[in-house]
Amino acid sequence: MRIGICTGGGDCPGLNAAIRALVQAASQDKSVQIVGIYDSINGLMERPLRYTELTLPDVTDILCRGGTIIGTHNKGNPLVGPEKSKKIEAIKQGMTELKLDTLILIGGEGTQGLAVDLMENGIPIIGIPKTIDNDLPGTDRTIGFASCVDLVAESVLRLRSTAESHDRIMLLEVMGRDSGYIALHGGLAGGAHVILIPEIPFDYTAMLKKIQDRSSRGRNFSVIVVSEGARSQGGDALYKEETSGTKNLGGISQLIARELFQKTNMDTRVTVLGHLQRGGTPNPEDRILAARFAVHAYHLVKQKQFNRIVVLKGQHISDTAYADIARFARAQLSLQDEILLTAEATGICLGR
Ligand code: F6P
Repeated sequence: MRIGICTGGGDCPGLNAAIRALVQAASQDKSVQIVGIYDSINGLMERPLRYTELTLPDVTDILCRGGTIIGTHNKGNPLVGPEKSKKIEAIKQGMTELKLDTLILIGGEGTQGLAVDLMENGIPIIGIPKTIDNDLPGTDRTIGFASCVDLVAESVLRLRSTAESHDRIMLLEVMGRDSGYIALHGGLAGGAHVILIPEIPFDYTAMLKKIQDRSSRGRNFSVIVVSEGARSQGGDALYKEETSGTKNLGGISQLIARELFQKTNMDTRVTVLGHLQRGGTPNPEDRILAARFAVHAYHLVKQKQFNRIVVLKGQHISDTAYADIARFARAQLSLQDEILLTAEATGICLGR
């Protein structure tokens, strides 16, 4: 049996840990080989084919390495647009040439959408969820999220001490697109005073009340974690133009900082954490999750149970049919989310 593996979408800590675990599991069984496809599905779509046979020596020492040794691509689903059937044909031919029985796709919502396209065209696939944003429906966790939360929490702690020394309002803008998981978890873990998430359009009055309450208790500083997708009540999310021509969310914390300075006359500073959140070493939680997802995916392949995506529900790893997860709309925090309510119950202002 030969299994192709690709990583798609924005990278995150833990991708290499998943690749390593898959190669290790396969190496227990001499009849299974793993083939790494470069740059998501592109390595199978383009000619010459771009791939690498992966054996144990190739994955030595990659457990803690950030990024992905087989590259990735996050400029949208490559199958969308003209010549879709030609591209699918090229992928099928590529699989025949490399004698691949199935493809394991490690990715977020974009890549899993691509996986559904492949499945609908008769290519047997297995999915593994990853994204720092944790915004994939059907699973409680995605690879990369826990490591990202570690960094956000550490950053909030660091901002707290300098905010206190200078009597400042510090804003920390974090990733997450239209979901507030990163901001909420990182903010709660780091001791933020205000957390603004896309799911709750914010009200300046609520934020000012929190800042003023703190000042009246002699705590003349505040740290505000802002999701890149946050917006004010009645306002719109802000986008920045990237050099590649793509439009990504960003810039809302600058706007909030200006507004808060005008309203409080307190010094405000903005830190945008950016791609630091995507790079670097996966934490132990992500390394363990990557191994569990990869081994479960491997067992599904061995049992020839294709067209399924591995998920974490509570403490348990299981799998679900792609068909059960309707076209991968992005998951958002529920307003009844237990962590969200916990944050608010401890006095953190969520901007409402
Ligand atoms: O989906 C992961 C993510 O990190 C988002 O949180 C962020 O908006 C986006 O990717 C940035 O992508 P890039 O800069 O790679 O285009």
